Amino acid sequence: MPVISGNEIIDRLKWRYATKQFDPEKPIGEADWSTLEEALILTPSSYGLQPWKFFVITNQDLKESLVASAYNQRQVADCSHLVVMAVRTKMTEDDIDRLIDFTAEVRGIDREKLASYRHVMVGDIVHGPRSHDATGWAKLQAYIALGNFMTVAAMMGIDTCPMEGFMPPAFDEALDLEEKGYTTAVLCPAGYRKADDRYATLAKVRYPREEMIQHLR
Ligand SMILES: Cc1cc2nc3c(=O)[nH]c(=O)nc-3n(C[C@H](O)[C@H](O)[C@H](O)COP(=O)(O)O)c2cc1C
Repeated sequence: MPVISGNEIIDRLKWRYATKQFDPEKPIGEADWSTLEEALILTPSSYGLQPWKFFVITNQDLKESLVASAYNQRQVADCSHLVVMAVRTKMTEDDIDRLIDFTAEVRGIDREKLASYRHVMVGDIVHGPRSHDATGWAKLQAYIALGNFMTVAAMMGIDTCPMEGFMPPAFDEALDLEEKGYTTAVLCPAGYRKADDRYATLAKVRYPREEMIQHLR
């Protein structure tokens, strides 16, 4: 017996929509926010490398100052919590070693046992073909966090809006990201919808399942 029934899951996914109007008077409670942060942390990533950092902005002045850099989309300021999903612009052998050391520590195993795992990661992400677009690779990982975050939020009755409509250089500058070795991948404001956001009641526009999913039996 699943913890949540199939019908309940589909209901929650239909309830979710890209929120255009957040109610600025409704903050997300601390316990709920903590759950959402844990969902971000538990997101899987390629090799488990977690090439990201999530900036959580609740400061109203800072949120307001970012609206213009998001093509005047008010969600950035009216949400309760603005998550700026940033990713590493470069991966080095030190990053791989950090994961190897941490894995050995957490799992209580000898670092030497992870030598081939280290070798594969370095040959792929640091020096291999994917090293030429480390940022692009890292951004793919950030979108997994985005999906995880939105789905968990929907299960909790919390609204979100995935956002690519912003100027990454402006966000990078405002948050001093270049210096820290990060760049902005995607935004996700979270909070509670305004009662009169008309987008909430629009029918979902999705191509038929038979077209999008093909079974090869
Ligand atoms: C990666 C991504 C970027 C998006 N960027 C924006 C955005 O900048 N502003 C916005 O209002 N909606 C944005 N959307 C919302 C989509 O338009 C919306 O998810 C899509 O039309 C499906 O509608 P629904 O989410 O309400 O079901 C974005 C969605 C995704 C997944």
